[in-house]
Amino acid sequence: DKEIFIKKEFKESMLNQTGKVFWFTGLSGSGKSTIASSFEKLLHEKNYYTVVLDGDNIRNGINSNLGFSENDRFENIRRIAEIAKLFVENGAVVICCFISPTHELRKLAQEIIGEPFVEIFINTPLEICEKRDVKGLYAKARKGEIKDFTGISAPFENPSNPYLILNTENNTIEQNTMDLFLNIKKLIERP
Ligand code: ADX
Repeated sequence: DKEIFIKKEFKESMLNQTGKVFWFTGLSGSGKSTIASSFEKLLHEKNYYTVVLDGDNIRNGINSNLGFSENDRFENIRRIAEIAKLFVENGAVVICCFISPTHELRKLAQEIIGEPFVEIFINTPLEICEKRDVKGLYAKARKGEIKDFTGISAPFENPSNPYLILNTENNTIEQNTMDLFLNIKKLIERP
């Protein structure tokens, strides 16, 4: 078959890796971006080419016209999944950090991305996220100052069959990072 552009496998071979999308799901303040940052550093040290997508570079940029209604969250995740797909088709190891609170939203991402999609559940209970309240948003949500806040006034459905569950209550960032790396190493190595 005639391909116009250079195939994924040639890019992966140049990068000496297999592209994957690690889709981190979990409540606001669960530690998604923190673990992603540490995980990315470890992968970088081991010579993997990575791309992180999270609120800072997505919701402030391409998705700055979206809020937190059901429809907007759907469009948020749809665009993110399409972006992740573009990167993974070019050989990158992509790390996505989004609440993606429902089965439906994660299914949407999985269907867009296809085989490279790997779901990672950052399993921090609501009480802990709320106690940490890093951004002060839970307090505002409790006072009714933010509507449709995930975990308070909007749903979060735990994923039923994630590839891996990370527990941030009893494990350190370093432990979770290493646990994750050891579990996914085989997925990103060249066959
Ligand atoms: S998602 O539900 O569409 O996947 P996303 O991960 O992009 O959410 O954004 C979540 C971040 O937006 C939270 O960590 C928080 O800082 C901020 N935020 C602002 N309003 C809300 C809200 N109503 N619900 C959840 N998060 C909110």
